[in-house]
Amino acid sequence: MQKLGTYYLDVALRGSRGISTSPIRMNGKSNSLFLKSTRRKKSSHEWLQRQLHDPYVKWARVEQYRCRSAFKLLEIDDKHKILSPGMNVVDCGAAPGSWTQVLVKRCNPAINDPSQPAGSIISLDIQDFLPVEGAHILAKSDITAKETQDAVLNLLQSTDGVDAVVSDMAPSPSGFQEMDHENIVKLSYTALRFSLKTSKVGGTFLTKIWDGRLRLKMEEDLKRYYGRVQVVKPKSSRSDSAEVFLLARDFKGLKA
Ligand SMILES: C[S@@+](CC[C@H](N)C(=O)[O-])C[C@H]1O[C@@H](n2cnc3c(N)ncnc32)[C@H](O)[C@@H]1O
Repeated sequence: MQKLGTYYLDVALRGSRGISTSPIRMNGKSNSLFLKSTRRKKSSHEWLQRQLHDPYVKWARVEQYRCRSAFKLLEIDDKHKILSPGMNVVDCGAAPGSWTQVLVKRCNPAINDPSQPAGSIISLDIQDFLPVEGAHILAKSDITAKETQDAVLNLLQSTDGVDAVVSDMAPSPSGFQEMDHENIVKLSYTALRFSLKTSKVGGTFLTKIWDGRLRLKMEEDLKRYYGRVQVVKPKSSRSDSAEVFLLARDFKGLKA
């Protein structure tokens, strides 16, 4: 009876993640849904354990970042010096907002340091998220939608162009590695096309992908438009994750 209770609780949880909640009849332990439910419980438990023991999760709390992802951008910037006060940056896939928090600190849009030039940060995400002081937030905004891109272009009118487009966007994982790889690469190309349209010569493009067979092709495409292209994997990116970042610098301009 207890097992049945946990089973239905799990079905309810799966339902909240968009998986069908149509009535299911238990046929005993060999039922494949029961096995899936057990696997999911195990992976939720593993996720919780990892969160509890992850130093970056604790550190994010101390530094008041909205999530541990902040450290990936901090590390990339500390090593590659891609951000500075006065820069105009578009942050794609910004929710819950930790990269935006980093960008606000490093690009001075709120003029926290009056001795430095003021930048501008535009942060968009398909999900809703809370404002970050100093940044323009476009919540519930899908990068693939024309309205979103028009809204960003509109905000950019008061600037002299984009210095960097950064994308930490990730689609909801399907669990099928190849499909997830293709989907994230597709999103990255959308961000890249937007970057090519809006960046100043010399600009930077940084994107996350889950590594796979299309990575080399994307690197080649980036090299057509940017002078320097690197694959970076910050220490704060979990070593068991397929996540890598493509960093493209020195935008050549579209006529090059
Ligand atoms: C790993 S999270 C980003 C974390 C963020 N960089 C931070 O530091 O808080 C990936 C984000 O990509 C967003 N995303 C996925 N598809 C998107 C799309 N088509 N347009 C805009 N955002 C998208 C998701 O909603 C999710 O919030």
